[in-house]
Amino acid sequence: MCGIMGYIGDREASGILVGGLRRLEYRGYDSAGLATLVNGQIDIRRTVGKLDNLSKLLLEKPLAGSIGIGHTRWATHGKPSEENAHPHRAGRVVVIHNGIIENYLELRSELQGLGRTFSSETDTEVISQLIDEHLNQGMNLEAATRAAIARLQGSFAIVVLCEDDTTRLYCAKTATPIVIGLGEGENFIASDVPALLDHTRRVLFLEDGELAEVTRDAVRVTTFDGTLVTREPRQITWDPITAQKGGFKHFLAKEINEQPQAMIDTMLGRIRQEEGDVSLPELAALDLDWNRFSRIYITACGTAWHAGLVGKFILEELTRIPVEVDYASELRYRRPIMGPDTLLIAISQSGETADTLAAVEEARSHGASVLSICNAVEASIPRRANAVLYTHAGPEISVASTKAFTTQLTALYLLAIHAGRQLGRLDEQRGRALVHDLVNLPSLVQETLGRSKQIEKIAKKYGHSRDFLYLGRGINYPIALEGALKLKELSYIHAEGYPAGEMKHGPIALIDEQLPVVVLLPGDAMYPKTLSNLKEVEARGGRIIAITDAPTADLEEIAWEVITVPKTNHLLTPILLTIPLQLLAYDIAIYRGTDVDQPRNLAKSVTVE
Ligand code: F6R
Repeated sequence: MCGIMGYIGDREASGILVGGLRRLEYRGYDSAGLATLVNGQIDIRRTVGKLDNLSKLLLEKPLAGSIGIGHTRWATHGKPSEENAHPHRAGRVVVIHNGIIENYLELRSELQGLGRTFSSETDTEVISQLIDEHLNQGMNLEAATRAAIARLQGSFAIVVLCEDDTTRLYCAKTATPIVIGLGEGENFIASDVPALLDHTRRVLFLEDGELAEVTRDAVRVTTFDGTLVTREPRQITWDPITAQKGGFKHFLAKEINEQPQAMIDTMLGRIRQEEGDVSLPELAALDLDWNRFSRIYITACGTAWHAGLVGKFILEELTRIPVEVDYASELRYRRPIMGPDTLLIAISQSGETADTLAAVEEARSHGASVLSICNAVEASIPRRANAVLYTHAGPEISVASTKAFTTQLTALYLLAIHAGRQLGRLDEQRGRALVHDLVNLPSLVQETLGRSKQIEKIAKKYGHSRDFLYLGRGINYPIALEGALKLKELSYIHAEGYPAGEMKHGPIALIDEQLPVVVLLPGDAMYPKTLSNLKEVEARGGRIIAITDAPTADLEEIAWEVITVPKTNHLLTPILLTIPLQLLAYDIAIYRGTDVDQPRNLAKSVTVE
């Protein structure tokens, strides 16, 4: 996820671009850059790190010009560095990009074959090189941009500036956002509304598969195949703070709602639907012969540890390799039995958690191979790992982890399918079915998000409670733990997660008419067993809130509330069942008036022991 910004008008572009990027910095801050056009010459400034570094550079070396583009980067392909910072230039063209070009390696070698040299490691540079190549063949800028786009697979929002044309910018998009701000004698392009609000509230949202030509006085939108699109501009009424949160009241709500897109971004370029397989070229660095590993350890902290617990079920089911899951703070201080036959999977959103990093060092000292599942690119943990599987969820700003968790689960599914296929323990037919279900999952997550009104009412009804109990079984027991953790950290209510079958060995003593018991009840082979555990709860007056994809009459009879989720395959139920728990914790926090995005005593990245 990156922030992009374009300006064309009569004012000096660089100040407007930097101002807009400041409002987009939440989308990434690994590097930043600007390009403007003066007297037919493009000039570029780029710096590593936050936008402040670019601002300082601009003080020393200002950029003139009233047409330009700017970018703040969240690294995906290529480390954060000046060479990899946008805008990317090829010949007379510069491009900024948000998204991932899946077929960039193929395009890069094709362009290199034509004698073109690349100056970055990014996927983006193939776009500027392709456009410039087409310009050299005699096309005008619009035709060259269209021809380049036709070659791209993946997701992109791009803005193109060219020395040949001082009067227009082109922008285009597939799965990532672009909004055009309409001014008087000036127009703006941005990834998100907040970047525009200092200048205009009249906006035009570009849809997937559309390209816009933006001049000082006009915007012409067409589809990629050239059909003219007419769309009425919209008037934005949000205040600037709400706008940064995409219209949501809190970053947490935004991030919960971003999950379908974040999961798609995790899968992007990795799915081989026809072959029932998953391609993970990033594992090549591990020289990953899965037959080499006789055991897998997963290590992490907090929510990421819960993802690891689910990962154990998936990996054992699809690879038949035994998996142990350890808190990183425990693993680092015991003498784990590890060697060259061990794979350690370290899961971390931030990639900076001190305990997880120490557990990685411990595993390395025993000769184990380390695979990091991480969201933040080039953070300390991925840098110390032998290989990295990035989740590409985009920055997670709210302290409580939501989209990082569901994308960690998505990455673990991808990994398990990949490993199962490599080991020959998952056949093509089952692989195809799993991949198919995974690809369909984001739309089921979207459907589940539609239960928000019902969950809001439930939150108001039970939000005064002193304690909550969460129950789950098997692969969904870790989801009970995650539900309890979300409630604790967001609303400060004491909550416990327990395996449903264990309840009678102690926690049943807690049950009375005051206790809400949230139960995860997928319609699997264990359904009747869990239902009989719930009858024990009901007999003691506990208030059952059931989350299920199988709402039977028996359940309706004993549950106070039933939240239904769509059906999916057993291994994927944890993702769907997580969504109502996140919404419930959020709504209860709102009801109790706690600080949702920054709960007390917590920090987003725990870099101390
Ligand atoms: C809970 C939460 C924490 C983190 C934990 C690990 O909502 O956010 O429990 O999951 O601190 O952080 P990372 O994943 O950055 O290593």
